[in-house]
Parts: sequence; C-alpha cells; structure tokens
Amino acid sequence: MSASSPAGGFPLLPPGFRFGTSTAAYQVEGAVAEDGRGPCIWDTFSAQPGRIVDGTTGAVAADHYHRVGEDVALMKELGASGYRFSMSWSRIQPTGRGRPNPAGLAFYDRLIDTLLGNDIAPMVTLYHADLPQALEDEGGWINRGTVDCFAEYAAIVGERFGDRVEHWVPVNEPNVHTFLGYGNGQQAPGRTLMFDALWAAHHLLLAHGRAAIELRRTAGSADREVSIGCANNHGPVWPATDADADVGASKIFDALWNGMFLEPMLLGRYPADLMPLLEGLAEPGDMATIRQPLDFYGVNYYNPMRIAAAHEDADLPFDFCDVLGYPATDRGWPVVPDALREWLIMFRARYRAALPPIMITESGAAYNMEPGPDGTVDDQPRIDYIDAHLRAVGEAIRRGVDIRGYYCWSLLDTFEWSEGLSQRYGLVHVDRDTQERTPKKSFQWYADMIAAQPRQE
Ligand code: NOJ
Repeated sequence: MSASSPAGGFPLLPPGFRFGTSTAAYQVEGAVAEDGRGPCIWDTFSAQPGRIVDGTTGAVAADHYHRVGEDVALMKELGASGYRFSMSWSRIQPTGRGRPNPAGLAFYDRLIDTLLGNDIAPMVTLYHADLPQALEDEGGWINRGTVDCFAEYAAIVGERFGDRVEHWVPVNEPNVHTFLGYGNGQQAPGRTLMFDALWAAHHLLLAHGRAAIELRRTAGSADREVSIGCANNHGPVWPATDADADVGASKIFDALWNGMFLEPMLLGRYPADLMPLLEGLAEPGDMATIRQPLDFYGVNYYNPMRIAAAHEDADLPFDFCDVLGYPATDRGWPVVPDALREWLIMFRARYRAALPPIMITESGAAYNMEPGPDGTVDDQPRIDYIDAHLRAVGEAIRRGVDIRGYYCWSLLDTFEWSEGLSQRYGLVHVDRDTQERTPKKSFQWYADMIAAQPRQE
C-alpha cells in the first residue's frame, strides 16, 4: 500500500519538533464500571434516549483500558515520540472528592510506565469533559465548589505521577465544554443555560489556574522539569458577509470563543468587548489565579467558523453559517489548512510577549472508511488533511511563530461525543464488534513522515 504525500515529499518541520497522537479517557477507555470507577456526566448523558446520534455510549469505546499494551505498541510502530491522553477523574476519585481509588491510579501507572518503556513522552490532560456525576449533581461547573475539588484531584495526580510525567494540560477545551455542555446542551451534562453558562467558563478557567498551581507544587521539584500548558480550541471566526451586523456578530463570537479563554490565561483579564457580559463572574484574586505561567500554549484546531447576525427573536445573537468553497470531512467540517496558519500568525502578532511556545495539541479529521476486500483502510483524504495542516504549521514557523509539536487527533477511532461511534478520527481503525485494530493508510504515512524528519543535532 503506498501512502503518498499529495504535494510530493513529506512536510518537514524543524529538528526536535515533537510528533504525537492524542486521545481522551471517555472516548477510548471503556470499562466504565470496572475497578471502582464512578459514573461521569457522559455515562449519564449518553444513556438518555436521543442524545447520541447512533444511540451508542462510551461503555466500551475502543476498549483501551484492556488494550494498553497493544495500543502503545502501535504508537511505537508509528515512531511518535509523544502521546497525549486524559485521566478519568472518576476512575481516580469516584465521586470527585476524597481518598483516591488505588485501582484507578494503578491503571495510569501501567499506561505511563508502558509509554516510558517505549520512549514515548506522556502528556497528561487532567480533565477532558468527563466530570464525576456526583459533582454535577451539586451543580457541576456552575458551582464554584467544583474548582476546589479539581485542585484536590490535581494534587493527587501530581503527587502520584509527577516523577514520570513532564507535560500537563489541566483542562481540555473549556470553551467547547462551556458552550456545548452548559450553553446549548448538545454535549454532557446537556444543560441549556445559554449565557448563564458563562459561569462554567469562569470556573473552568479558575480550575485551570488552581490545577496549574497544584501541579507545579506537587509534580515539579528542583531536579525535575514540569511543563504546564493548556489545550484550547481555537480558529478564525469569519463574518458571513461584510454587512455591519454580520461583522459585529462575528467579532462578539470571536471574543466569546477565542479571546475569553486565551486572554485570562495569558493576560489575566477578560477581553474588553465582553466586560458588560462578564460583570460579576470573577471574585477578587481570580484573574491572577487563572494567569499562571505557561510552559506551552496548546492549540486544538479543526476549522474556521463563519458567523452571521441572528434575526431579532433568536435566543442567541449569532447564527452559524456553512464555510463555503472548501472540501469537507465526512462530518461536513470544512478543510481549511490556511486558516490554521492565519490564526497562528495573528495569535503571535497579537500576544507576542505573553506567548510561550505553541503546541498543536489536537488536529485531525473524521473520514469513515472501512477496511476494503484486502483488509486495508484507504483513507487518503486524512493523509491530505494532515499533510496540509503540517505544511501550514511549517509556514507559520517560517513566519516566526514558535511551534514545537503536533499531536494528531486521534490514534484510534474513538467515541465521538454526541456523534457516538459514527465518526472515525483514528490513524488506526477499530472494529466496533471485535475491537480489532487495523492501521490505516494514514498510519503508514504518518510513520513515514516522522521517519523522514531531520534529526536533532
Ligand atoms: C476536540 C476534542 O478535544 C475531542 O474530544 C474531539 O473528539 C475532537 N475535537 C473532534 O471533535
């Protein structure tokens, strides 16, 4: 099977650039009722009729909990030097507080040790959308008390794994979790608070800051490096037309989607445009807590968004429009690598001095090819996607943006939230009945691309 690079040759990144893959606990682990794990909001949400398009749940997902050895062997074969995964909070603290569950900790010991034994550096996300249900029952991220619980969890994890894990991400995509989980209810916990969801945003940001403090205290030491970052979903927001109303709506949406999460982390304040809306969220000292020193800034990029002003009696002031004129993934998301380059260059131009080195903590695409008669999975469009996005990263680097790594989403076909098992993002195909793993054509391409990179002197 030949895995061809569309533009001839492989995209080449600077020596030392880290290539990895990315997953998240609820999306791959399965084993939701094993070894003392407590329920999380996705167990509850996915069990409700009508929430997940194909009626599936993450109860088995890619069964990674039982297949760590096999999955790490695949990473080794890929030649990737990094693996980003998340820990399930309710595996470690079944109700989100109190004494840790030894079997939960032992699972992550096993995963981390297997990675290190294969020269793969773990990057650990503490929270990837899977709040312990017991904490949701007390208000979830709308409740400020959840932040204290998160700080306790971060300290447990930092103490246990800090001797082996260097790279940490406290909270994955606080914007997506706020707007889809608490704003419009498309994802767990399925609440429809509209603008009142902004409390969740503030508390997730505070959780980021508190966890960063705890991780530095517990995982870092004089002779041990600790590298703390974030994984924020970003992309350009384009106005649907050049009409004033659309331009205005797109600016507000940009501030809510991008600025509201990056400015507190980098500058310790909310964007000026949003101040009337955010009045009263922060208590004294909160913004300083959120603005912790970051060793890297993680960007999860998928696509640009196009926004129009909504008509007068809509619930929200903006409408989401299709991005026209580009190819789309099987999920219908537009493929616009130039928008990644554009966003990275603007990001650097705007926040220059405040900006640590950038990591692309996620980038990838859903293409749903199944194995052909000869057993191979020909997913050339995923190769084209990754190739083009790596070239965009390379161009941004040449324009002066300091980018140190790219973690492809995802290693495996995962449970894709409200899309269930219907969307496949993996470099490795997972048979939903047998759990058999089949590396796709893109897997071989990613491996060959990594092998073609210039070596560090
Ligand atoms: C970003 C999220 O972090 C991840 O959980 C999700 O699967 C991908 N986007 C694709 O939607």
